[in-house]
Amino acid sequence: MEKPADNHHPIEETIRRRWSPRAFAETPVHNADLCSLFEAARWAASSMNEQPWVYIAATREDVETFEMLAGVLVPANYSWAKNASALALSIAKKTFSRDGSENPVARHDVGAASAQLTLQAMTLGLFVHQMGGFDKEKARDIFQIPDDYEPVTVLAIGYPGISETLPENLREREHAPRVRKSLPEFVFRGEWAKSASFLED
Ligand SMILES: Cc1cc2nc3c(=O)[nH]c(=O)nc-3n(C[C@H](O)[C@H](O)[C@H](O)COP(=O)(O)O)c2cc1C
Repeated sequence: MEKPADNHHPIEETIRRRWSPRAFAETPVHNADLCSLFEAARWAASSMNEQPWVYIAATREDVETFEMLAGVLVPANYSWAKNASALALSIAKKTFSRDGSENPVARHDVGAASAQLTLQAMTLGLFVHQMGGFDKEKARDIFQIPDDYEPVTVLAIGYPGISETLPENLREREHAPRVRKSLPEFVFRGEWAKSASFLED
């Protein structure tokens, strides 16, 4: 299913076509393609080049890790994400390695890496659906994540499936239009909530 952005200005096709499906096909993901996804994450920019991201990732074939990852999801997410071809948990290192001081943008940089991963996926026909709905403490526990690191999101990765396979409530959401704020609602000039001057043309 296609759900392209109703963009008001020209954007890259991969960005336009990206969306977060809940229906995934059973088709397995090639290891080489998964490597490309994490390679794209690897080359994200980060504060002080800290690269604060860690991913715990598994294809469906790695049954043990896949089930551990699926097992941290809240039930509403588990119900569909368990059918993805791969799952990954993104994790942020909260301090700078050089001096142990707090890295206030660690989660931001993990988000940037995951965004690059997601767009790389699109170029390979793969889709990524990120989830904040999971039990962080359970994840910390079962994956023995050190205190200095913080779980951020779970990513469901796979080829798009058929929405008819979803239960009724999820099928509705799958077909719901993708809506966004307009540029003047979030691109401001020096005065708060006043849209940037270049938007006025
Ligand atoms: C950090 C983050 C957390 C999210 N958490 C969930 C979630 O727990 N469950 C879910 O179904 N979707 C989740 N989503 C998907 C968003 O609902 C989705 O990206 C948003 O509605 C925009 O839709 P689109 O990605 O199809 O454009 C999350 C997305 C992000 C980036």
